[in-house]
Amino acid sequence: MYAPRLPRIGTLAAWRDAARRLAAARVPPSAVDWGLAGEEGAIFNADLPAPARHLSVPRAFPDLARVLIPDRSGQGMGVAYTLLLRLQSEPGLLSARADLDVARAHRIAKAIRRDIHKMHAFVRFREAGDQTVRRRFTAWFEPDHRIEETVADFFVNRFGDMDWQIVTPDVTTTFQSGALRLEAIRSTRPDADDPLEGLWTTYYENIFNPARLKVDAMQAEIPKKYWRNLPETRSIPSMIASARNRVAAMQQATPNMPAPAAAHGEESAMTAIEQADLFGAPSLDDLRRDALACTRCPLHQEATQIVFGEGPADARVMFVGEQPGDREDLEGRPFVGPAGQLFDETLAAVGIKRADCYVTNAVKHFKFVQKGRRRIHQRPAASEVQACKQWLTQEIAVVDPRLVVALGATALHALTGDGAGLLKRQGGIESLPDGRPLLVTVHPSYLLRLPDAETRAEQAKKFRRDLSCVHDLLKT
Ligand code: URA
Repeated sequence: MYAPRLPRIGTLAAWRDAARRLAAARVPPSAVDWGLAGEEGAIFNADLPAPARHLSVPRAFPDLARVLIPDRSGQGMGVAYTLLLRLQSEPGLLSARADLDVARAHRIAKAIRRDIHKMHAFVRFREAGDQTVRRRFTAWFEPDHRIEETVADFFVNRFGDMDWQIVTPDVTTTFQSGALRLEAIRSTRPDADDPLEGLWTTYYENIFNPARLKVDAMQAEIPKKYWRNLPETRSIPSMIASARNRVAAMQQATPNMPAPAAAHGEESAMTAIEQADLFGAPSLDDLRRDALACTRCPLHQEATQIVFGEGPADARVMFVGEQPGDREDLEGRPFVGPAGQLFDETLAAVGIKRADCYVTNAVKHFKFVQKGRRRIHQRPAASEVQACKQWLTQEIAVVDPRLVVALGATALHALTGDGAGLLKRQGGIESLPDGRPLLVTVHPSYLLRLPDAETRAEQAKKFRRDLSCVHDLLKT
């Protein structure tokens, strides 16, 4: 039995090396125990051959492996190794969703993505007392899996203008003066009781609306295990306990107010977004509000307004286009011009309701050149896509769709870092860095621009086929 022992920092690279060595030695998955991976004192079996050089894997595999490796039980590493071996003789394996190994990989990836999502949403920074030139913040978090390396970039992008440290039981991640450092340090939960915490708690107690209490939904969105590390949730038990009395008092004080549902002994609905508001994680409204003031690239100077994404905050699918066009810029809504009309018609033809989808763009401001009275669309530059990417990343984190669809090369570039070869990739399912499936298709305006009617009909058919695949994927 081989038992590779991988370091806690650089685990993915170490797994890749170990897997290549094991594959070169034709070691079957059943002869490898990844279970203790990440434990200290680990030494990889040095007597294995040099890593195999010619392993071929589809484009989606590295991204899927990246999500599987942090699995604390080691099962993610195991299934990734199994897939790696099988892919050598079954190149189309990852599309076989019913295959037991593929299904298992997706089950594990889903749990890890959920953990990543929770860490993005529930890390709470507290200001560290020792002031230097830059303000310093620290946070304590207990993830289920070893996702510290995976989430580091998210926090660098989001909080790049301050110094911070996120401490977990296994890893300390420090961002200081623009440099990121991860260290395998064992830590225990600190006794954090700083003055800021009191302010947080008071704030949340004040915005808490007892008439909208729905305990089950609250727990589903923020599982209880996170409560102890969120300052605002410390008061939840007492707020819940007193909610009914407070509702009764509110009713007495305002006799004309319609009776809140909770007063009838029912729990009223509280959406995920309302919960996010309550608990301080950003909501789509927060993002939209922040984006209004965005000046990260020059496009805001000429555009009429920002065109943010729209759709349900819990949509199961997110469509990503390029940038708003002339009509969108004037109306402030995505995909309402000619391309949007074709998009809506194709969605309807395959049985998808646009109202169920979250629709957004890689770039949120219209880029154009003025020619007489007309404003002619210009493709956004890579720097503009990059500047806008943080909004898209946050939309994905908040909506947490099961499937993302890239409409065209700019969206594909924004989502994967590589927009090349769109037509070759069309119809394929790739993985986003967080492991989420990404379906690749063309932009509807590409179809509108095709001069030849026959080619247009042919391409429109392919586009319909891709959206029909979205429909089928959402059913499973
Ligand atoms: N094209 C896009 O990519 N997005 C829109 O919102 C409209 C046209």
